[in-house]
Amino acid sequence: MKTANLLVLPGDGIGQEIAASAISVIAWFNDHRHDSISVSEDAIGGAAYDLHGTPLAEATLAKALASDCVLLGAVGGPQYARLDYASRPEAGLLGIRAGMGLFANLRPVFCFDELVEASTLRPEVVRGIDLVFVRELSSGVYFGEPRGIETLPDGSRRGVNTHAYTTAEIRRVSRVAFELARQRNSRIVSLEKSNVMEAGLLWREEVQALRDADYTDVELSHMLADNAAMQLVKNPRQFDVILTDNLFGDILSDEAAMLTGSLGMLPSASLGAEKDGGGRAALYEPIHGSAPDIAGKDLANPLAMLLSLAMALRLSLGREQDAASLEGAIRSVLAAGHRTGDLPAAHGRQVGTRGMTELVIAALDSAG
Ligand code: IPM
Ligand code: MG
Repeated sequence: MKTANLLVLPGDGIGQEIAASAISVIAWFNDHRHDSISVSEDAIGGAAYDLHGTPLAEATLAKALASDCVLLGAVGGPQYARLDYASRPEAGLLGIRAGMGLFANLRPVFCFDELVEASTLRPEVVRGIDLVFVRELSSGVYFGEPRGIETLPDGSRRGVNTHAYTTAEIRRVSRVAFELARQRNSRIVSLEKSNVMEAGLLWREEVQALRDADYTDVELSHMLADNAAMQLVKNPRQFDVILTDNLFGDILSDEAAMLTGSLGMLPSASLGAEKDGGGRAALYEPIHGSAPDIAGKDLANPLAMLLSLAMALRLSLGREQDAASLEGAIRSVLAAGHRTGDLPAAHGRQVGTRGMTELVIAALDSAG
């Protein structure tokens, strides 16, 4: 029997409720499978700030580094907007990404057939969408120096952030994208703004050079990020793997997520370098935020979190079959027409976070 150590960081807002949902599902797997997952919990984001005066305590990062992987809910809330950047909940998330060396963020975007009607786009445009973003996660304008707000001699102010990428940063995330593309349809579109940005031009050249050196079997094309924003709503099915930087990946993955009907459906994996003994640092989280407006009301859709757990089972814990059973259970609940409030009502029950979790567990039960 294998025991994996999973650190759960619920964070803020609905993070608490969806983390509880994941923990219930883990308990089900522990009861019904040979291998087990040992869960420990800690605070991040605003919750950590309230406890320790910092959004990411050193001890929490140490626990994250020592665990097999991390499952995170969401961070943020309006009560923290007055804090300086270093104290804000978001700094906890950026801090754990940097501290764990997570440079590749995988954001799969797929449309369950059961939900094609939930999209704001026509069903024939979204049916069968199956693409994945590989977003660079630990550099670019999110981390570049110099940064800050300065006061100029005339008393007006100037805000500065720096967008910069090195060869090594571009290549390590590109390698993840090429490897992933090989497991899919071997097609990558790489996005930047090389028409106006030097760092974008370097991005394009380095991705192409890596492809020509090591991945000639993968079809690579380049697209300007603004054009990609348009193509994503025009014809999203043209994409297989989308490789892009931290900021464009942030923006375009929200856009793409909404094609599928609800932000509440999409998981993500953030990966670090492969370790010598095998495995890699990894953190799994839904791509939606903390939704303070519905927090604590048992309204949040836990499915993005449960799909993130499925990714953890598959990518970090080597439990492909269990990942597939969890995804299958979710699909069958949707097929039965059960929905949380973020999705248009269907022929089944309207449920909350706990109700949806119970339905998924019941579906796991009936599948064995
Ligand atoms: C995301 C989020 C984060 C980001 C925020 C919460 C810091 O929007 O994971 O997409 O900008 O990376
Ligand atoms: Mg985002």
